[in-house]
Amino acid sequence: MASTQQKASRSVVITGATSGLGFGCAKALIRANPSWHVILASHNEQRTDKAARKLRSETGSTLTTTMQLDLASLDSVHRFANRLHQDIDSGEIPPLHAVVCIAATLQVSGTVYTDDGFEITYAVNHLGHFLLVNLLLSRIRSPGRFVFLAGAGSQGMGFWEHALGMSPPRTDFENLRELAVPEDTSDTDPSKVGSQRYATSKLANVLTAYELDHRLRSAGLSSPDAPITSNVFSPGLMPGTGLARDYGQMMKFLWNTVLPAFRVLPAVRSPAESGHDLARLVTGPDFENVSGQFIDGREISHTHPMSYDEKLQRTLWEESAALVDLNGDNIGNVD
Ligand SMILES: NC(=O)c1ccc[n+]([C@@H]2O[C@H](COP(=O)([O-])OP(=O)(O)OC[C@H]3O[C@@H](n4cnc5c(N)ncnc54)[C@H](OP(=O)(O)O)[C@@H]3O)[C@@H](O)[C@H]2O)c1
Repeated sequence: MASTQQKASRSVVITGATSGLGFGCAKALIRANPSWHVILASHNEQRTDKAARKLRSETGSTLTTTMQLDLASLDSVHRFANRLHQDIDSGEIPPLHAVVCIAATLQVSGTVYTDDGFEITYAVNHLGHFLLVNLLLSRIRSPGRFVFLAGAGSQGMGFWEHALGMSPPRTDFENLRELAVPEDTSDTDPSKVGSQRYATSKLANVLTAYELDHRLRSAGLSSPDAPITSNVFSPGLMPGTGLARDYGQMMKFLWNTVLPAFRVLPAVRSPAESGHDLARLVTGPDFENVSGQFIDGREISHTHPMSYDEKLQRTLWEESAALVDLNGDNIGNVD
């Protein structure tokens, strides 16, 4: 728990802050908002504690705490949300004003299933965050912000996606259940299948951000008087992060050693730079009334054409709710 040396005013949950973009975002956010209580929510206790210690020593914040959250487990997401509800309700943690869904996995060495029976990329990147956001809707306070992460292919295929051999997202979203429990697991080319699953999960993040915006608006929560917003962010290409950990030695060398040298190019960024931009989207005044948008670095931009299909946004939400066994529509509980 936080020390009492500093008095926190608001809290924010950040998933995936142990490394890469999440760490960069947490650091920039604390520097810009020293009175915010930052909750690092991640699955590996050692790595999360280490990140928290590093953040405290680099920022001087005593308001950075950790909480166990394994997005690959629906049970873990429920336990995290229940504990957070209790801590907020008891005043242990100040009111929740932002949820930043950064954590992600990219599996290229074969199909992995979670204990719940879902393919792990879809489970962590989409379903875990979907459930988390729904369970925290009843505690988010105005002005509040939800931020999701786009990624390779969810904006369309650019130069770097092609150069790195990334696959585009699936566009056959007719059978949404099949994205979570794939029928074809032959894994003839696990790297291609894996990068396609990653891109598809990122497209699901975009669709979810847009659908949440609609739901917040129809509940009257995304109005100028009481803005609770939902946006999706792209950090650009950030080589050197942990995202390539499942790749072979060659790709890891390229990702960790060669590509960072390309940061002189505007399209190639460091986790610190993109983390700074993301923190601005989470707490900065420029984005107070911006909702239902895709922010590419600092600019509002466009995502994959499929992401604007409102019927698909709604169906994905409903299907995801059924998959994670969400009872009723939690949007109705926001007060
Ligand atoms: N790097 C890029 O070029 C790029 C480009 C576009 C978008 N993005 C997006 O940016 C975000 C951050 O990626 P990154 O590049 O910074 O990757 P990263 O360094 O690998 O960060 C991923 C984070 O997710 C956490 N995580 C993984 N599985 C988890 C689970 N089951 N439960 C909870 N947390 C889990 C990791 O924790 P551990 O380290 O403890 O496992 C880590 O903190 C992702 O959403 C990614 O899709 C990245």
